[in-house]
Amino acid sequence: MARQFFITTMGCQMNEYDSDYLGQLLLDSRYEPAETPKNADLIVINTCAVREKAEQKAFSLLGRMLALKKRKPSLVLGLVGCIAQQEGSKLIKRFPGLNFVLGTREIGRLPDILTDIEIDGRKNVATDMGHRTHPPVNRPGFFKGRVKSFISIMEGCNNFCSYCIVPYVRGEEVSRPSEEILKETEHLVSEGVKEVTLLGQNVNSYHSPDNGTYRFPSLLREITQVKGLQRVRFTTSHPKDLSEDLTQCFGQLEKLCPHIHLPVQAGSDRILKLMNRRYTREKYLECIQSLRRVRPEIAITTDIIVGFPGENDEDFNMTLDLLRKIEFDNLFSFKYSDRKGTLAEKMQHKVDEEIKSERLYALQKLQKSITLKKNRGLTGTEMDILVEGVSKRGDQLTGRTGTNKIVNIDHNYNMIGRIVKVLITGAFLNSLRGKPL
Ligand code: 5AD
Ligand code: SF4
Repeated sequence: MARQFFITTMGCQMNEYDSDYLGQLLLDSRYEPAETPKNADLIVINTCAVREKAEQKAFSLLGRMLALKKRKPSLVLGLVGCIAQQEGSKLIKRFPGLNFVLGTREIGRLPDILTDIEIDGRKNVATDMGHRTHPPVNRPGFFKGRVKSFISIMEGCNNFCSYCIVPYVRGEEVSRPSEEILKETEHLVSEGVKEVTLLGQNVNSYHSPDNGTYRFPSLLREITQVKGLQRVRFTTSHPKDLSEDLTQCFGQLEKLCPHIHLPVQAGSDRILKLMNRRYTREKYLECIQSLRRVRPEIAITTDIIVGFPGENDEDFNMTLDLLRKIEFDNLFSFKYSDRKGTLAEKMQHKVDEEIKSERLYALQKLQKSITLKKNRGLTGTEMDILVEGVSKRGDQLTGRTGTNKIVNIDHNYNMIGRIVKVLITGAFLNSLRGKPL
């Protein structure tokens, strides 16, 4: 019987993309997917190091998998992704049950490493950070049945925001050739995918490796022409690099969804400076104004960190004030946590956990009221949704608007994978209800 694998994915969309990549490599190496970790001969834990909480989660999962291995010593156990990159061989010393550790730029070596393990049981650590991206796989059949999918267009980040571990664990920025990205898009579409999200830590600095003038807007223009593809999204863009050309794309490209995730992180210029974000509150507000001018219905979401070192009440109030001014459609909010080796880790005036919690609560409370107000404003309107599958509760179908809002509608299986016009009949904090027209 073929050996079975199980991949657990934690963290961001880039990790989800990487796990799909690993899954395709394993199928090519004649592994088969296992239903549960208990049935697996190989378990790969794909980790995230961006915040302390994510790191704790990864180690607790690793603990559980190591316990599984005690009962089944033949199990091959590996850690990949950002924690693997950061900790490298230290992990093998600390957890002798681990068979391999693969860094963010080394995941393509998984099949070779498994062969080594088969030959002589050798433990392997690979954390080289060469200036490269992974060769494409495009395994036929892998994406069948999916309505939407991710495509990585670049790896790494050169920005070094002072709180962030990403440039250290995902390495220097490197873009994939545009031809590879287009081929991958066409492959996904041939598998039935209708919507792609282009991924990068900072998509605005994308440039095709062999053509410096071919930038992110050029890529968007080409991808939106792929036949059969219905929608394109991208994430994440950095406000300091949001170009006029990219803003204009929202007015010109019909398939480009009217949604942008534009992390602001803080509303106070003093904190933005300490964060090394290289834009001001004013500049951010101008970006929002231009986007709304070009595409009035555009949804804007953001990331916010509360309790960055030195953040005082006045700074935090500036963040709340920004929320009221902009009225984001939604946001992801985090309590600042120290990351090893970053500039912020060494900063003074760390904020108490209790104050961070209070600020997070106040921020989320304000945002909830804004989101709910915005969602309620949509009742009675008609919107196009791409139907993705069955809703969480199982009794309805679920889809998303171009503005990325979840809409649940009454059952009709024929609609999966189709763009359907619906009348919005109900609005809640996390979803809308709709009736197909
Ligand atoms: N502490 C808290 N949040 C962080 N993020 C990145 N690093 C940290 C940190 N050290 C958040 C930022 C980023 C998102 C992916 O994670 O808001 O945009
Ligand atoms: Fe981290 Fe800043 Fe790069 Fe985003 S832009 S990955 S926050 S360093």
